[in-house]
Amino acid sequence: MKRYTVALLAVMALCLVLAALALIPATPKPATQQPPSDFLGNAQEHARYLVSQGQQIFRFDTFGDEAFWGEQLGLHQVVASLSPRQALELGLKVDAEALPPALVEHIKHGEVNLDDPAVTVQLVQANAVLGVVGFFDGDSRLRSVGLTCAVCHATVDNAVAFGIGKRIDGLANRDLDIGAIIAAVPNLQPVVDLLRLANPALTANDVRHVLLAWGPGKFDAELFLDGKAFNPQQITNGVVTGTHVPGATLIPDARGLAGHNLHTWTGGWGTVTYWNAFVAVNAMHGIGTFFDARFDNAEQFPIAARAGLGHVSTDPDSDQVTSKLPALHLYQLALPAVRPRSGIDFDPEAAARGDTLFSGKADCNRCHRKPLWTEPGWNQHTPTELKIDDFQANRAPGLAYRTMNLAGIFVRERGLFMDSNNQGRFYHDGRFQTLLDVVASYNDRFNLGLTDEERRDLVEYLKSL
Ligand code: HEC
Ligand code: HEC
Repeated sequence: MKRYTVALLAVMALCLVLAALALIPATPKPATQQPPSDFLGNAQEHARYLVSQGQQIFRFDTFGDEAFWGEQLGLHQVVASLSPRQALELGLKVDAEALPPALVEHIKHGEVNLDDPAVTVQLVQANAVLGVVGFFDGDSRLRSVGLTCAVCHATVDNAVAFGIGKRIDGLANRDLDIGAIIAAVPNLQPVVDLLRLANPALTANDVRHVLLAWGPGKFDAELFLDGKAFNPQQITNGVVTGTHVPGATLIPDARGLAGHNLHTWTGGWGTVTYWNAFVAVNAMHGIGTFFDARFDNAEQFPIAARAGLGHVSTDPDSDQVTSKLPALHLYQLALPAVRPRSGIDFDPEAAARGDTLFSGKADCNRCHRKPLWTEPGWNQHTPTELKIDDFQANRAPGLAYRTMNLAGIFVRERGLFMDSNNQGRFYHDGRFQTLLDVVASYNDRFNLGLTDEERRDLVEYLKSL
Protein backbone atom coordinates (compact mmCIF):
# COMPACT_ATOMS: atom_id res chain seq x y z
CA MET A 1 0.00 0.00 0.00
CA LYS A 2 2.72 2.46 1.05
CA ARG A 3 4.88 1.57 -1.98
CA TYR A 4 1.85 2.15 -4.24
CA THR A 5 1.28 5.69 -2.82
CA VAL A 6 4.95 6.63 -3.32
CA ALA A 7 4.83 5.42 -6.92
CA LEU A 8 1.62 7.36 -7.56
CA LEU A 9 3.12 10.55 -6.10
CA ALA A 10 6.21 10.11 -8.24
CA VAL A 11 4.12 9.76 -11.41
CA MET A 12 2.07 12.85 -10.49
CA ALA A 13 5.22 14.88 -9.83
CA LEU A 14 6.63 13.83 -13.19
CA CYS A 15 3.39 14.89 -14.89
CA LEU A 16 3.61 18.31 -13.22
CA VAL A 17 7.20 18.78 -14.40
CA LEU A 18 6.26 17.80 -17.96
CA ALA A 19 3.28 20.17 -17.90
CA ALA A 20 5.50 23.00 -16.70
CA LEU A 21 8.04 22.28 -19.43
CA ALA A 22 5.30 22.43 -22.05
CA LEU A 23 4.48 25.96 -20.90
CA ILE A 24 8.00 27.26 -21.49
CA PRO A 25 7.85 29.05 -24.84
CA ALA A 26 10.18 27.74 -27.54
CA THR A 27 10.00 30.91 -29.64
CA PRO A 28 13.22 32.54 -30.94
CA LYS A 29 14.72 35.21 -28.74
CA PRO A 30 13.84 38.80 -29.64
CA ALA A 31 16.51 41.03 -31.15
CA THR A 32 17.10 42.98 -27.96
CA GLN A 33 18.28 39.84 -26.16
CA GLN A 34 21.92 39.78 -25.11
CA PRO A 35 24.12 37.27 -26.94
CA PRO A 36 24.02 33.82 -25.34
CA SER A 37 26.85 33.79 -22.84
CA ASP A 38 27.40 30.04 -22.42
CA PHE A 39 31.01 29.06 -22.07
CA LEU A 40 31.02 27.06 -25.31
CA GLY A 41 27.98 28.60 -26.97
CA ASN A 42 25.51 26.94 -29.28
CA ALA A 43 25.51 27.43 -33.06
CA GLN A 44 21.73 27.44 -33.51
CA GLU A 45 21.14 29.94 -30.75
CA HIS A 46 24.04 32.11 -31.87
CA ALA A 47 22.83 32.11 -35.49
CA ARG A 48 19.29 33.02 -34.40
CA TYR A 49 20.64 35.85 -32.32
CA LEU A 50 22.83 37.18 -35.15
CA VAL A 51 20.06 36.94 -37.76
CA SER A 52 17.58 38.85 -35.61
CA GLN A 53 20.17 41.50 -34.75
CA GLY A 54 21.21 41.65 -38.40
CA GLN A 55 17.64 42.28 -39.49
CA GLN A 56 17.35 45.24 -37.13
CA ILE A 57 20.67 46.67 -38.34
CA PHE A 58 19.81 46.16 -42.01
CA ARG A 59 16.45 47.89 -41.59
CA PHE A 60 17.01 50.58 -39.02
CA ASP A 61 20.70 51.27 -38.35
CA THR A 62 22.16 54.48 -39.76
CA PHE A 63 25.65 53.86 -38.32
CA GLY A 64 25.57 57.54 -37.35
CA ASP A 65 25.37 58.64 -41.01
CA GLU A 66 22.78 61.32 -40.11
CA ALA A 67 25.84 63.47 -39.30
CA PHE A 68 26.46 63.47 -43.07
CA TRP A 69 23.01 63.18 -44.74
CA GLY A 70 21.14 65.33 -42.24
CA GLU A 71 23.53 67.69 -40.51
CA GLN A 72 25.87 68.31 -43.47
CA LEU A 73 23.71 67.94 -46.60
CA GLY A 74 20.33 68.84 -45.09
CA LEU A 75 18.53 65.79 -46.51
CA HIS A 76 15.82 66.13 -43.82
CA GLN A 77 14.74 69.39 -45.45
CA VAL A 78 14.14 67.50 -48.69
CA VAL A 79 12.18 64.80 -46.87
CA ALA A 80 10.06 67.37 -45.02
CA SER A 81 9.23 69.13 -48.29
CA LEU A 82 8.04 66.01 -50.15
CA SER A 83 4.41 65.00 -50.23
CA PRO A 84 3.84 61.25 -49.78
CA ARG A 85 2.88 61.15 -53.47
CA GLN A 86 6.23 62.71 -54.48
CA ALA A 87 8.14 60.45 -52.10
CA LEU A 88 6.49 57.39 -53.68
CA GLU A 89 7.25 58.75 -57.16
CA LEU A 90 10.93 59.01 -56.19
CA GLY A 91 10.72 55.33 -55.30
CA LEU A 92 10.67 55.56 -51.51
CA LYS A 93 8.64 52.67 -50.05
CA VAL A 94 6.27 52.53 -47.08
CA ASP A 95 6.00 49.62 -44.66
CA ALA A 96 2.26 49.17 -44.06
CA GLU A 97 2.92 46.99 -41.01
CA ALA A 98 4.48 49.95 -39.21
CA LEU A 99 1.22 51.89 -39.54
CA PRO A 100 -1.91 51.66 -37.39
CA PRO A 101 -4.44 49.34 -39.15
CA ALA A 102 -7.05 52.12 -39.24
CA LEU A 103 -4.63 54.33 -41.20
CA VAL A 104 -3.95 51.50 -43.66
CA GLU A 105 -7.71 51.21 -44.26
CA HIS A 106 -7.93 54.98 -44.86
CA ILE A 107 -5.05 54.75 -47.38
CA LYS A 108 -6.80 51.85 -49.16
CA HIS A 109 -9.95 53.93 -49.48
CA GLY A 110 -8.10 57.01 -50.69
CA GLU A 111 -8.96 58.94 -47.52
CA VAL A 112 -5.41 60.07 -46.66
CA ASN A 113 -4.08 63.30 -48.09
CA LEU A 114 -1.10 62.13 -50.12
CA ASP A 115 -0.31 65.71 -51.12
CA ASP A 116 0.50 66.93 -47.61
CA PRO A 117 4.24 66.88 -46.75
CA ALA A 118 3.32 66.75 -43.04
CA VAL A 119 2.06 63.21 -43.68
CA THR A 120 5.50 62.22 -45.03
CA VAL A 121 7.12 63.40 -41.81
CA GLN A 122 4.57 61.39 -39.81
CA LEU A 123 5.40 58.29 -41.86
CA VAL A 124 9.11 58.80 -41.13
CA GLN A 125 8.29 59.25 -37.46
CA ALA A 126 6.41 55.93 -37.50
CA ASN A 127 9.57 54.30 -38.91
CA ALA A 128 7.49 53.36 -41.95
CA VAL A 129 9.62 54.80 -44.78
CA LEU A 130 12.07 52.05 -45.70
CA GLY A 131 15.66 53.02 -44.99
CA VAL A 132 14.91 56.60 -43.88
CA VAL A 133 15.40 57.17 -40.15
CA GLY A 134 14.21 60.47 -38.69
CA PHE A 135 15.62 62.33 -35.71
CA PHE A 136 13.10 64.61 -34.05
CA ASP A 137 13.14 67.71 -31.83
CA GLY A 138 10.36 67.59 -29.29
CA ASP A 139 7.29 65.87 -30.68
CA SER A 140 7.37 66.35 -34.38
CA ARG A 141 10.02 68.71 -35.81
CA LEU A 142 12.26 66.68 -38.12
CA ARG A 143 15.79 67.73 -37.10
CA SER A 144 17.85 65.27 -39.17
CA VAL A 145 17.67 62.05 -41.17
CA GLY A 146 19.99 59.14 -41.71
CA LEU A 147 19.87 56.33 -44.25
CA THR A 148 20.04 52.56 -43.74
CA CYS A 149 20.80 49.62 -46.04
CA ALA A 150 17.04 49.15 -46.56
CA VAL A 151 16.63 52.35 -48.56
CA CYS A 152 18.31 50.65 -51.55
CA HIS A 153 18.11 46.93 -50.72
CA ALA A 154 14.48 46.48 -49.68
CA THR A 155 11.08 47.02 -51.21
CA VAL A 156 7.42 46.27 -50.42
CA ASP A 157 4.77 43.96 -51.89
CA ASN A 158 2.45 46.86 -52.86
CA ALA A 159 -0.43 45.12 -51.03
CA VAL A 160 -2.02 48.40 -49.87
CA ALA A 161 -1.17 50.67 -52.81
CA PHE A 162 1.78 51.07 -55.14
CA GLY A 163 4.83 51.58 -52.91
CA ILE A 164 2.93 50.71 -49.72
CA GLY A 165 2.85 47.16 -48.34
CA LYS A 166 4.77 44.49 -46.48
CA ARG A 167 8.56 44.81 -46.35
CA ILE A 168 10.68 42.53 -48.49
CA ASP A 169 14.25 42.75 -47.22
CA GLY A 170 17.05 42.10 -49.68
CA LEU A 171 15.19 42.70 -52.94
CA ALA A 172 16.71 45.72 -54.65
CA ASN A 173 14.54 48.82 -54.80
CA ARG A 174 14.49 49.15 -58.58
CA ASP A 175 12.27 52.24 -58.40
CA LEU A 176 14.40 54.34 -56.07
CA ASP A 177 15.84 57.45 -57.70
CA ILE A 178 18.51 58.06 -55.07
CA GLY A 179 20.40 60.36 -57.46
CA ALA A 180 17.43 62.71 -57.75
CA ILE A 181 16.97 62.65 -53.97
CA ILE A 182 20.63 63.54 -53.32
CA ALA A 183 20.57 66.19 -56.08
CA ALA A 184 17.79 67.99 -54.18
CA VAL A 185 19.72 68.55 -50.92
CA PRO A 186 20.25 72.19 -49.89
CA ASN A 187 24.00 71.76 -49.36
CA LEU A 188 25.75 69.59 -51.94
CA GLN A 189 29.16 71.13 -51.19
CA PRO A 190 30.63 68.21 -49.16
CA VAL A 191 29.95 65.92 -52.17
CA VAL A 192 31.35 68.49 -54.62
CA ASP A 193 34.50 68.93 -52.50
CA LEU A 194 35.13 65.20 -52.51
CA LEU A 195 34.66 64.87 -56.28
CA ARG A 196 36.94 67.88 -56.86
CA LEU A 197 39.84 65.77 -55.61
CA ALA A 198 39.66 64.07 -59.03
CA ASN A 199 38.50 67.05 -61.06
CA PRO A 200 39.15 70.49 -59.48
CA ALA A 201 37.02 72.31 -62.08
CA LEU A 202 33.75 70.61 -61.04
CA THR A 203 30.82 72.77 -59.96
CA ALA A 204 27.74 71.86 -57.92
CA ASN A 205 25.71 71.99 -61.13
CA ASP A 206 28.00 69.44 -62.78
CA VAL A 207 27.49 67.15 -59.81
CA ARG A 208 23.71 67.60 -59.94
CA HIS A 209 23.80 66.77 -63.64
CA VAL A 210 25.56 63.48 -62.83
CA LEU A 211 23.18 62.58 -59.98
CA LEU A 212 20.09 63.32 -62.06
CA ALA A 213 21.42 61.14 -64.89
CA TRP A 214 21.42 57.95 -62.75
CA GLY A 215 17.68 57.28 -62.85
CA PRO A 216 15.65 54.71 -60.91
CA GLY A 217 17.27 51.66 -59.31
CA LYS A 218 20.83 52.86 -59.80
CA PHE A 219 23.67 54.19 -57.66
CA ASP A 220 27.35 54.73 -58.37
CA ALA A 221 29.27 53.17 -55.47
CA GLU A 222 32.66 53.78 -57.11
CA LEU A 223 32.13 57.46 -57.98
CA PHE A 224 33.54 58.65 -54.66
CA LEU A 225 36.68 56.60 -55.21
CA ASP A 226 37.53 57.48 -58.81
CA GLY A 227 35.30 60.38 -59.88
CA LYS A 228 34.51 58.62 -63.18
CA ALA A 229 30.93 59.65 -63.70
CA PHE A 230 30.34 58.51 -67.27
CA ASN A 231 31.10 55.51 -69.42
CA PRO A 232 32.40 57.07 -72.67
CA GLN A 233 30.33 54.66 -74.73
CA GLN A 234 26.69 53.70 -74.49
CA ILE A 235 25.86 50.08 -75.15
CA THR A 236 22.34 48.83 -75.79
CA ASN A 237 21.76 45.12 -76.32
CA GLY A 238 25.44 44.64 -76.99
CA VAL A 239 25.67 47.37 -79.63
CA VAL A 240 27.36 50.76 -79.19
CA THR A 241 24.46 53.17 -79.56
CA GLY A 242 25.87 56.41 -78.23
CA THR A 243 28.32 58.06 -75.91
CA HIS A 244 28.55 59.19 -72.35
CA VAL A 245 26.20 57.15 -70.16
CA PRO A 246 26.23 57.32 -66.33
CA GLY A 247 28.68 54.99 -64.62
CA ALA A 248 25.98 54.12 -62.07
CA THR A 249 25.12 50.44 -61.70
CA LEU A 250 21.84 48.73 -60.92
CA ILE A 251 21.30 47.96 -57.25
CA PRO A 252 21.70 44.18 -56.93
CA ASP A 253 19.57 41.96 -54.72
CA ALA A 254 21.06 41.13 -51.33
CA ARG A 255 19.50 37.65 -51.38
CA GLY A 256 20.85 34.23 -52.27
CA LEU A 257 24.41 35.38 -51.53
CA ALA A 258 25.65 32.47 -49.40
CA GLY A 259 28.27 30.07 -50.69
CA HIS A 260 30.26 32.23 -53.06
CA ASN A 261 33.20 34.49 -52.59
CA LEU A 262 33.31 37.68 -54.65
CA HIS A 263 30.37 40.07 -54.49
CA THR A 264 29.13 43.19 -56.29
CA TRP A 265 29.16 43.52 -60.07
CA THR A 266 32.87 43.90 -60.52
CA GLY A 267 35.78 41.73 -59.50
CA GLY A 268 38.25 41.70 -56.68
CA TRP A 269 36.45 43.79 -54.07
CA GLY A 270 35.70 40.97 -51.67
CA THR A 271 32.99 39.17 -49.75
CA VAL A 272 29.65 40.44 -48.48
CA THR A 273 31.19 41.65 -45.23
CA TYR A 274 34.02 43.47 -47.03
CA TRP A 275 31.42 45.35 -49.02
CA ASN A 276 29.24 46.03 -45.97
CA ALA A 277 32.12 47.71 -44.16
CA PHE A 278 33.00 49.69 -47.28
CA VAL A 279 29.42 50.84 -47.93
CA ALA A 280 28.62 51.69 -44.32
CA VAL A 281 31.76 53.80 -43.92
CA ASN A 282 32.56 55.19 -47.37
CA ALA A 283 29.24 55.30 -49.23
CA MET A 284 26.73 55.93 -46.45
CA HIS A 285 29.28 57.92 -44.40
CA GLY A 286 28.58 56.05 -41.19
CA ILE A 287 31.00 56.44 -38.30
CA GLY A 288 33.32 53.44 -38.43
CA THR A 289 36.55 51.91 -39.59
CA PHE A 290 37.60 50.72 -43.01
CA PHE A 291 40.97 49.54 -44.25
CA ASP A 292 42.03 48.71 -47.81
CA ALA A 293 45.55 49.66 -48.93
CA ARG A 294 44.52 49.10 -52.56
CA PHE A 295 42.78 52.49 -52.37
CA ASP A 296 46.21 54.15 -52.19
CA ASN A 297 46.59 53.53 -55.94
CA ALA A 298 46.05 57.15 -57.03
CA GLU A 299 45.90 56.24 -60.69
CA GLN A 300 42.88 53.97 -60.29
CA PHE A 301 41.32 55.67 -57.25
CA PRO A 302 42.35 59.37 -57.37
CA ILE A 303 39.74 60.47 -54.82
CA ALA A 304 40.11 57.56 -52.41
CA ALA A 305 43.90 57.89 -52.44
CA ARG A 306 43.85 61.64 -51.73
CA ALA A 307 41.06 61.48 -49.14
CA GLY A 308 42.59 58.42 -47.42
CA LEU A 309 39.38 56.40 -47.81
CA GLY A 310 41.31 53.15 -47.41
CA HIS A 311 42.51 54.23 -43.98
CA VAL A 312 39.41 55.36 -42.11
CA SER A 313 39.91 54.74 -38.43
CA THR A 314 37.50 55.45 -35.59
CA ASP A 315 38.12 54.94 -31.90
CA PRO A 316 36.40 51.68 -30.80
CA ASP A 317 34.22 53.55 -28.32
CA SER A 318 32.82 55.79 -31.06
CA ASP A 319 32.79 53.21 -33.89
CA GLN A 320 29.16 52.58 -34.88
CA VAL A 321 29.87 50.06 -37.65
CA THR A 322 32.47 47.45 -36.76
CA SER A 323 30.59 45.68 -33.95
CA LYS A 324 27.58 45.24 -36.25
CA LEU A 325 29.40 43.53 -39.12
CA PRO A 326 28.98 39.90 -37.94
CA ALA A 327 25.19 40.16 -37.52
CA LEU A 328 24.75 42.16 -40.73
CA HIS A 329 26.83 39.59 -42.62
CA LEU A 330 24.89 36.59 -41.36
CA TYR A 331 21.52 38.22 -42.00
CA GLN A 332 22.32 38.78 -45.66
CA LEU A 333 23.68 35.27 -46.08
CA ALA A 334 20.48 33.96 -44.49
CA LEU A 335 18.12 35.82 -46.84
CA PRO A 336 17.02 33.25 -49.42
CA ALA A 337 16.59 34.04 -53.10
CA VAL A 338 12.93 34.39 -54.08
CA ARG A 339 11.64 31.05 -55.43
CA PRO A 340 9.81 30.99 -58.76
CA ARG A 341 6.49 29.10 -58.98
CA SER A 342 6.21 26.49 -61.72
CA GLY A 343 3.50 27.34 -64.22
CA ILE A 344 3.17 30.89 -62.87
CA ASP A 345 6.64 32.37 -63.17
CA PHE A 346 7.95 29.97 -65.81
CA ASP A 347 6.82 27.25 -68.20
CA PRO A 348 8.17 23.96 -66.75
CA GLU A 349 8.41 22.07 -70.06
CA ALA A 350 10.30 24.81 -71.87
CA ALA A 351 12.48 25.26 -68.77
CA ALA A 352 13.41 21.55 -68.82
CA ARG A 353 14.60 21.91 -72.43
CA GLY A 354 16.44 25.12 -71.42
CA ASP A 355 18.17 23.25 -68.60
CA THR A 356 19.79 20.91 -71.13
CA LEU A 357 20.90 23.88 -73.24
CA PHE A 358 22.26 25.78 -70.22
CA SER A 359 24.89 23.17 -69.46
CA GLY A 360 25.13 21.94 -73.08
CA LYS A 361 24.99 23.90 -76.31
CA ALA A 362 24.72 27.36 -74.67
CA ASP A 363 27.63 26.65 -72.30
CA CYS A 364 26.32 28.96 -69.55
CA ASN A 365 27.16 26.51 -66.77
CA ARG A 366 30.87 27.06 -67.52
CA CYS A 367 30.55 30.22 -65.41
CA HIS A 368 27.08 30.15 -63.83
CA ARG A 369 27.69 26.87 -61.96
CA LYS A 370 24.59 25.00 -60.88
CA PRO A 371 23.24 25.50 -58.18
CA LEU A 372 25.25 28.53 -56.98
CA TRP A 373 24.89 30.16 -60.42
CA THR A 374 28.42 31.51 -60.05
CA GLU A 375 31.74 29.71 -59.62
CA PRO A 376 32.93 28.25 -56.33
CA GLY A 377 36.30 29.97 -56.00
CA TRP A 378 37.49 33.23 -57.57
CA ASN A 379 34.35 34.04 -59.52
CA GLN A 380 35.34 36.79 -61.93
CA HIS A 381 36.13 37.15 -65.67
CA THR A 382 37.96 39.74 -67.74
CA PRO A 383 36.06 42.01 -70.13
CA THR A 384 38.00 40.42 -73.01
CA GLU A 385 36.79 36.98 -72.01
CA LEU A 386 33.21 38.24 -71.72
CA LYS A 387 33.59 40.24 -74.94
CA ILE A 388 32.17 43.42 -73.42
CA ASP A 389 33.61 46.90 -72.74
CA ASP A 390 35.99 47.37 -69.79
CA PHE A 391 34.71 50.67 -68.32
CA GLN A 392 33.11 49.30 -65.17
CA ALA A 393 35.61 46.44 -64.72
CA ASN A 394 38.49 48.91 -64.66
CA ARG A 395 36.92 50.72 -61.72
CA ALA A 396 37.43 47.66 -59.47
CA PRO A 397 40.61 46.13 -58.03
CA GLY A 398 40.07 42.90 -60.01
CA LEU A 399 39.73 44.73 -63.36
CA ALA A 400 37.03 42.18 -64.10
CA TYR A 401 33.33 41.35 -63.91
CA ARG A 402 32.03 38.96 -61.29
CA THR A 403 29.83 36.11 -62.49
CA MET A 404 26.47 37.31 -61.26
CA ASN A 405 24.42 34.67 -59.46
CA LEU A 406 21.12 34.14 -61.24
CA ALA A 407 18.80 32.84 -58.49
CA GLY A 408 15.54 34.78 -58.34
CA ILE A 409 16.20 36.64 -61.60
CA PHE A 410 12.57 36.05 -62.69
CA VAL A 411 11.49 38.81 -60.27
CA ARG A 412 13.13 41.41 -62.52
CA GLU A 413 12.09 39.78 -65.79
CA ARG A 414 8.46 39.75 -64.63
CA GLY A 415 8.71 43.17 -63.00
CA LEU A 416 7.34 41.92 -59.67
CA PHE A 417 7.24 44.46 -56.81
CA MET A 418 8.31 47.32 -59.07
CA ASP A 419 7.03 49.94 -61.49
CA SER A 420 6.63 48.26 -64.88
CA ASN A 421 8.78 51.02 -66.42
CA ASN A 422 11.69 49.72 -64.36
CA GLN A 423 11.31 46.01 -64.99
CA GLY A 424 13.93 43.84 -66.69
CA ARG A 425 17.34 45.54 -67.13
CA PHE A 426 20.21 43.09 -66.92
CA TYR A 427 24.01 43.32 -66.60
CA HIS A 428 25.60 45.94 -64.35
CA ASP A 429 24.30 49.00 -66.21
CA GLY A 430 21.04 47.48 -67.42
CA ARG A 431 22.23 47.36 -71.03
CA PHE A 432 19.92 44.43 -71.80
CA GLN A 433 16.22 45.10 -71.39
CA THR A 434 14.99 41.48 -71.25
CA LEU A 435 16.43 38.02 -70.65
CA LEU A 436 15.85 37.29 -74.34
CA ASP A 437 18.14 40.24 -75.14
CA VAL A 438 20.79 38.77 -72.78
CA VAL A 439 20.58 35.37 -74.46
CA ALA A 440 20.67 36.90 -77.96
CA SER A 441 23.83 38.77 -77.01
CA TYR A 442 25.56 35.63 -75.65
CA ASN A 443 24.51 33.91 -78.87
CA ASP A 444 26.29 36.60 -80.90
CA ARG A 445 29.32 37.04 -78.63
CA PHE A 446 30.05 33.34 -78.32
CA ASN A 447 28.68 32.11 -81.68
CA LEU A 448 26.34 29.67 -79.96
CA GLY A 449 24.07 29.09 -82.96
CA LEU A 450 20.90 28.99 -80.84
CA THR A 451 17.59 28.90 -82.75
CA ASP A 452 14.75 31.24 -81.77
CA GLU A 453 13.02 28.40 -79.96
CA GLU A 454 16.17 27.44 -78.07
CA ARG A 455 16.62 31.04 -76.95
CA ARG A 456 13.07 31.09 -75.60
CA ASP A 457 13.63 27.77 -73.78
CA LEU A 458 16.78 29.12 -72.22
CA VAL A 459 14.87 32.18 -70.99
CA GLU A 460 12.21 29.95 -69.39
CA TYR A 461 15.01 28.06 -67.65
CA LEU A 462 16.58 31.31 -66.37
CA LYS A 463 13.17 32.25 -64.98
CA SER A 464 13.02 28.94 -63.08
CA LEU A 465 16.23 29.56 -61.06
C1 HEC B 1 22.40 54.17 -52.10
C2 HEC B 1 22.04 52.80 -52.36
C3 HEC B 1 22.72 51.73 -51.54
C4 HEC B 1 22.81 51.64 -50.17
C5 HEC B 1 22.34 52.63 -49.13
C6 HEC B 1 23.45 50.38 -49.90
N1 HEC B 1 23.73 49.72 -51.06
FE1 HEC B 1 24.45 47.85 -51.24
N2 HEC B 1 24.67 48.12 -53.22
C7 HEC B 1 24.26 49.22 -53.95
C8 HEC B 1 24.79 49.13 -55.29
C9 HEC B 1 24.58 50.12 -56.43
C10 HEC B 1 25.56 47.94 -55.35
C11 HEC B 1 26.39 47.43 -56.53
C12 HEC B 1 27.76 48.06 -56.41
C13 HEC B 1 28.73 47.64 -57.46
O1 HEC B 1 28.70 46.49 -57.90
O2 HEC B 1 29.58 48.45 -57.80
C14 HEC B 1 25.44 47.31 -54.04
C15 HEC B 1 25.97 46.07 -53.70
C16 HEC B 1 25.71 45.42 -52.53
C17 HEC B 1 26.00 44.02 -52.25
C18 HEC B 1 26.52 43.00 -53.23
C19 HEC B 1 25.38 42.19 -53.78
C20 HEC B 1 25.82 41.13 -54.72
O3 HEC B 1 25.06 40.71 -55.60
O4 HEC B 1 26.95 40.69 -54.61
C21 HEC B 1 25.67 43.79 -50.95
C22 HEC B 1 25.79 42.49 -50.20
C23 HEC B 1 25.19 45.05 -50.41
N3 HEC B 1 25.21 46.01 -51.39
C24 HEC B 1 24.79 45.23 -49.10
C25 HEC B 1 24.52 46.47 -48.54
C26 HEC B 1 24.40 46.73 -47.13
C27 HEC B 1 24.51 45.71 -46.04
C28 HEC B 1 24.15 48.05 -46.99
C29 HEC B 1 24.05 48.84 -45.71
C30 HEC B 1 25.26 48.83 -44.92
C31 HEC B 1 24.07 48.61 -48.33
N4 HEC B 1 24.33 47.63 -49.24
C32 HEC B 1 23.74 49.92 -48.62
C33 HEC B 1 23.48 50.24 -53.44
C34 HEC B 1 23.33 50.52 -52.09
C1 HEC C 1 32.64 33.61 -69.17
C2 HEC C 1 31.69 33.47 -68.09
C3 HEC C 1 30.22 33.56 -68.42
C4 HEC C 1 29.50 32.79 -69.31
C5 HEC C 1 30.01 31.69 -70.22
C6 HEC C 1 28.13 33.21 -69.19
N1 HEC C 1 28.03 34.24 -68.29
FE1 HEC C 1 26.34 35.19 -67.78
N2 HEC C 1 27.41 36.52 -66.69
C7 HEC C 1 28.77 36.48 -66.51
C8 HEC C 1 29.20 37.69 -65.84
C9 HEC C 1 30.62 38.03 -65.46
C10 HEC C 1 28.04 38.48 -65.65
C11 HEC C 1 27.96 39.87 -65.04
C12 HEC C 1 28.06 40.90 -66.16
C13 HEC C 1 28.02 42.33 -65.66
O1 HEC C 1 28.62 42.64 -64.63
O2 HEC C 1 27.41 43.16 -66.30
C14 HEC C 1 26.94 37.70 -66.20
C15 HEC C 1 25.62 38.12 -66.18
C16 HEC C 1 24.56 37.38 -66.64
C17 HEC C 1 23.18 37.74 -66.53
C18 HEC C 1 22.65 39.04 -65.91
C19 HEC C 1 22.59 38.97 -64.41
C20 HEC C 1 21.97 40.21 -63.82
O3 HEC C 1 21.79 40.22 -62.59
O4 HEC C 1 21.69 41.18 -64.52
C21 HEC C 1 22.44 36.75 -67.09
C22 HEC C 1 20.93 36.67 -67.19
C23 HEC C 1 23.37 35.76 -67.58
N3 HEC C 1 24.65 36.18 -67.28
C24 HEC C 1 23.00 34.61 -68.24
C25 HEC C 1 23.90 33.81 -68.93
C26 HEC C 1 23.51 32.81 -69.87
C27 HEC C 1 22.07 32.48 -70.25
C28 HEC C 1 24.66 32.27 -70.36
C29 HEC C 1 24.80 31.23 -71.43
C30 HEC C 1 24.25 31.60 -72.73
C31 HEC C 1 25.76 32.94 -69.70
N4 HEC C 1 25.26 33.87 -68.84
C32 HEC C 1 27.09 32.66 -69.91
C33 HEC C 1 29.61 35.45 -66.88
C34 HEC C 1 29.29 34.48 -67.82
